[in-house]
Amino acid sequence: MTETFDRTEPLVARTRSELTAARAELGDGGVAVVMTMGALHEGHSALIRRARADARHVIVTIFLNPLQFGPREDLSRYPRTVDSDMAICRREGVDLVFLPTPDVIYPEGDPGVRVSAGPLGNVLEGQARPGHFDGVLTVVGKLLHLTGADLAYYGQKDAQQLILIRRMARDLDFPVDVVAVPTVREADGLALSSRNMYLTASDRETALCLSRALAAGAAAATEGPSAVRRAARAVLVGEPLALIDYLVLVHPSTLEDVPEWYRGEALLAVAGRVGTTRLIDNVPVNVGPGGGALEIFSDAAGRDDGPSSPTGSTGPLAL
Ligand code: PAJ
Repeated sequence: MTETFDRTEPLVARTRSELTAARAELGDGGVAVVMTMGALHEGHSALIRRARADARHVIVTIFLNPLQFGPREDLSRYPRTVDSDMAICRREGVDLVFLPTPDVIYPEGDPGVRVSAGPLGNVLEGQARPGHFDGVLTVVGKLLHLTGADLAYYGQKDAQQLILIRRMARDLDFPVDVVAVPTVREADGLALSSRNMYLTASDRETALCLSRALAAGAAAATEGPSAVRRAARAVLVGEPLALIDYLVLVHPSTLEDVPEWYRGEALLAVAGRVGTTRLIDNVPVNVGPGGGALEIFSDAAGRDDGPSSPTGSTGPLAL
């Protein structure tokens, strides 16, 4: 007998035992997970649809992970919209929704042992949010174990998170394929984010400078790294109401600034505060002849150890 799993309602699991029982119904192999903190929007839906297209079964986790929020961050005001989240999961044909509370994920309180993101977790977002990526990787690791997923989907929108999850899967031998999904944007370019709900109408107008700066930078990609940075910076200086934290063009595996001679895939990333809201955005770019914006990095990007010098032998240790 072939099972069809034609459900109009996703299974819902709130506890570990409910998850184990529901997970057993799905069976092994071809199970994808999309991890979220709720307040689902079209960006999350894009991840779910991609997972739906690739995998036999799709699990969505909705968990507002306290471990990845700093003491002065927005955990308490983070939007909670479970009913509409469930409606989206139903509409997208999700098989199983895991909806735990913090005591289900952390039954003994804050875990004493955590996954360390290492040096890549201390730059860019990690510099602005100390401990953030350790909190992300710890919960991602736990949710991968608990769901037993074979495939896991993450948005390019959170580029550093995606890079670190890939690294964790490789460095710690998680038996999962990590899949990147391009950033979903509003028609005017603003990247979708649960935090956009905090923006006033005028904040929202100001926030457009982030995606405009990235587009301007990507458009200068054929001219090399400093042209990319210059073009992006020119847009940002025209918008004094956006308090820019960083604008960088970095290598996708080391997250270090790419040197002027660099050609190939690089990450143009920006973060800043608009009103009371911290926003991030990025675009993968191909720097050099025929270059420009990419939707996501190629499989090869992020797997090597950083840019090799143009002659291959002019590094600081070379003779
Ligand atoms: P959250 O911010 O809810 O995002 C869940 C997933 O949706 C992430 O992989 C994120 O990159 C993706 N996403 C968000 N906005 C997107 C957009 N505009 N286009 C494409 N994808 C988008 O990221 C987290 O939650 C958490 O850190 C989590 C991984 C769940 C761990 O707690």
